[in-house]
Amino acid sequence: LTADKYAVKRGDFAKLSDEDLSHFHSILNPNQMITDTNDLIAFNQDWMKKYTGQSQLVLKPKTTEQVSKILAYCNERKLAVVPQGGNTGLVGGSVPVFDEIVISTASMNKIRSFDESSGIFKVDAGVILEAADTFLAEKGHIFPLDLGAKGSCFVGGNVATNAGGLRLLRYGSLHGSVLGLEVVLADGTVMDSMHSLRKDNTGYDLKQLFIGSEGSLGIITGVSILCPARPKSVNIAFLGLESYEMVQKCFQTARSDLCEILSAFEFMDHDSQLLAAKSLKTTHPLCQEDETGVDSVPEYPFYVLLETSGSTKEHDDEKLENFLEKVMGDETVVDGTVSQDETQLRTLWTWREGIAEASQQFGGVYKYDVSLPLDSMYSLVEAVQERLKKLNLSSTEDESKPVYEAVGYGHIGDGNLHLNVAVREYNKEVEKALEPFVYEFVSKHHGSISAEHGLGFQKKNYIGYSKSEVEIRMIKDIKHHYDPKGILNPYKYI
Ligand code: FAD
Ligand code: MLT
Ligand code: ZN
Repeated sequence: LTADKYAVKRGDFAKLSDEDLSHFHSILNPNQMITDTNDLIAFNQDWMKKYTGQSQLVLKPKTTEQVSKILAYCNERKLAVVPQGGNTGLVGGSVPVFDEIVISTASMNKIRSFDESSGIFKVDAGVILEAADTFLAEKGHIFPLDLGAKGSCFVGGNVATNAGGLRLLRYGSLHGSVLGLEVVLADGTVMDSMHSLRKDNTGYDLKQLFIGSEGSLGIITGVSILCPARPKSVNIAFLGLESYEMVQKCFQTARSDLCEILSAFEFMDHDSQLLAAKSLKTTHPLCQEDETGVDSVPEYPFYVLLETSGSTKEHDDEKLENFLEKVMGDETVVDGTVSQDETQLRTLWTWREGIAEASQQFGGVYKYDVSLPLDSMYSLVEAVQERLKKLNLSSTEDESKPVYEAVGYGHIGDGNLHLNVAVREYNKEVEKALEPFVYEFVSKHHGSISAEHGLGFQKKNYIGYSKSEVEIRMIKDIKHHYDPKGILNPYKYI
């Protein structure tokens, strides 16, 4: 087996045999094993339809003990495996490259416990993020992570990718909010560290190794996480701005004037809104009226979605009003709309969250999620647009050109830019024009080639742009120590 399209050779792993299937039958019920060719498709293909594997077997354990027995056997036999959650990952990490066995956590979906006084929440890894948050909402709490894929991604997958999302600005990274994990190591050993402690300085904080390890070190089966009180008052302001400089200025003012109630600060460029408009097919919140009525096409070069969350409506409203008066008074912001009603809030969020979906409506998307200093952040989008034009690869109108549009948006509050290059089909020439160009740009500006999506398969060869040789050696040492046969998610990460 050679994945020619990826220029990778299959590792020296065992091939799945009838004896292996019989052994898995002794651990799992028949309905926990998928071998049907049609049913396998969804597990072999990633969300972007960019990476496709050839796995012949998906296992869906229900308990940590079953995961442990499966891994102990795979390790013994040297059968390669891919841990899979909701399969919403955006770097090709969640699907096989060759015939690796997919171990899906989809059937591990129980809420284990919730302590209302402390907010400590313990769940199986396969609980869907939105289901976790809905459960918490009834108790007056909130999951400290939110992202566009919440209806499909799993809490275990979120931890495995160290997902950032839309409110990292407020609730911080999972490295801070996760209190404990239960993880099955490559040889089947169960590391039970489902702690409920905020403070524990007894030795290395081992759980941190697994947060963001992308299935390369063990399978996360349980998560213990601190969930704050749910804000009672939420406002959203959707703003139009004339330049990226004004976006930065607006952010600085929001940070100082909205301070403790600021819970999200997202930016979108004009073309990202144009893509979203084509996909959502509704009127843009800041559309302009023309002589024929309302024009649904967005017209400002930049947009900001700003959210405030607090406990007292009057207090938050007053703060937001004062802020808006200031930024509109000095023309940092030239247009805007504000919403407090639940349905309107959701609608406004779709113009930000919907960009991911919208970017691939033309055939595919090359995605880059990078950390960059705020002042040079948008220049990456401009540099890529210019490069694609110069190479004559890009045109929105001309269907013979592979690239439809390159757009920028992201979590300004976290210094995280998303660059999406929407293409009419995946194309090697476009890929060559983008990589390593994007990574070199990021490295030159002292950024990170992955702010939140991880390395997966897409960036495994590019880690050197963000990590030193010593760091890479230490990462490899850890991987080799805990997975000496390399059965966990091979061909990815490093
Ligand atoms: P999967 O995609 O199934 O897996 C991702 C990686 O984690 C793979 O390497 C896999 O092997 C590993 N893995 C999964 N489960 C486990 C486990 N239990 N144990 C060990 N390893 C495991 N990401 C962000 O950070 N911020 C965003 O704002 C954001 N928005 C998104 C919006 C959309 C519309 C989409 C499609 C994706 C978005 N993502 C975002 C990316 C993705 O949703 C996240 O990375 C998410 O955390 C992945 O969770 P999952 O359960 O789908 O994991
Ligand atoms: C987002 O912030 O919308 C996500 O990280 C997904 C994406 O990159 O589009
Ligand atoms: Zn993001």
